[in-house]
Amino acid sequence: MSQHSSRVALITGGASGIGRRIAEKLALEEKATVCILDRDGTAAGDVAAGIRRAGGRAESFVVDLSDTEGLEQTLQELTDRCGGPDIVINSAALAATVPALDYPLPQWQLTMAINVTAPMLIIQHALRHMRVKRWGRVINIASISGVRAGTGRLGYGSSKAALIAMTRQFAIESAEWGVTVNAVAPGPVDTPMVRSMHGGGTADTYGAMIPMARYGSTDEIAHAALFLASEGASYISGHTLAVDGGFLASGLLVRDLFSTASPAH
Ligand SMILES: NC(=O)c1ccc[n+]([C@@H]2O[C@H](COP(=O)([O-])OP(=O)(O)OC[C@H]3O[C@@H](n4cnc5c(N)ncnc54)[C@H](O)[C@@H]3O)[C@@H](O)[C@H]2O)c1
Repeated sequence: MSQHSSRVALITGGASGIGRRIAEKLALEEKATVCILDRDGTAAGDVAAGIRRAGGRAESFVVDLSDTEGLEQTLQELTDRCGGPDIVINSAALAATVPALDYPLPQWQLTMAINVTAPMLIIQHALRHMRVKRWGRVINIASISGVRAGTGRLGYGSSKAALIAMTRQFAIESAEWGVTVNAVAPGPVDTPMVRSMHGGGTADTYGAMIPMARYGSTDEIAHAALFLASEGASYISGHTLAVDGGFLASGLLVRDLFSTASPAH
């Protein structure tokens, strides 16, 4: 029997990209019941149906995370239908690239609502169940943009930094209930979000700055999330795990230094 076969996993943004891959792996490899929350009802329904066809358990729920009232109703409906969440993956996010000086207030407020307020409300909801069960795993999908600044990332980067701070805050206040709260900070990953945002300039710059000189895959991010959700990660909490090909570790990166320098001896 798999470690999560009696568990319910709530995954926001599970209709696409990283959230989708995590939902599929949790359902099909770990046998969890996955509940996908996404504003794209058709795509969420398709992912859930695909999981069921492959032998897993999955439900989909349509909600726009910027709608606080709608989110609270959806969380109640999810709990009535599937049970309280044992595992939470906050993956949905709004990402926009806008100059800091001209960042529009409505865009800032929407970014904070989706990327910060919704995860907070979802974690609060789940923790009430996890506290009773004395077990829980929360994994917030943050970003390298929450740690290092990037051109045009005022709203997105600030929201991801808040998500990382929130991860630590919830971690220390839920630790004694057997709950762990961690974040994954992906570097660039080939997903629909990135395909719509990264032009050639961004892709080339990342190629030069990432020691592994490539984008990550959704599988590589999902592996990290599944590890943090596992029994084996029971003593890890409040941590942000960079899955970024070495980006955050890197400073001066001179790829051809040793191939061009003359030998020391
Ligand atoms: N792809 C990357 O390079 C990358 C890098 C670092 C961090 N991340 C983070 O990973 C997470 C997933 O990104 P992705 O690249 O898989 O994106 P994606 O666009 O492929 O998927 C995002 C999903 O979230 C849903 N969503 C967006 N806004 C929503 C809202 N208001 N309400 C409900 N659902 C909503 C979308 O419908 C979509 O299904 C995000 O938190 C993102 O910030 C991604």
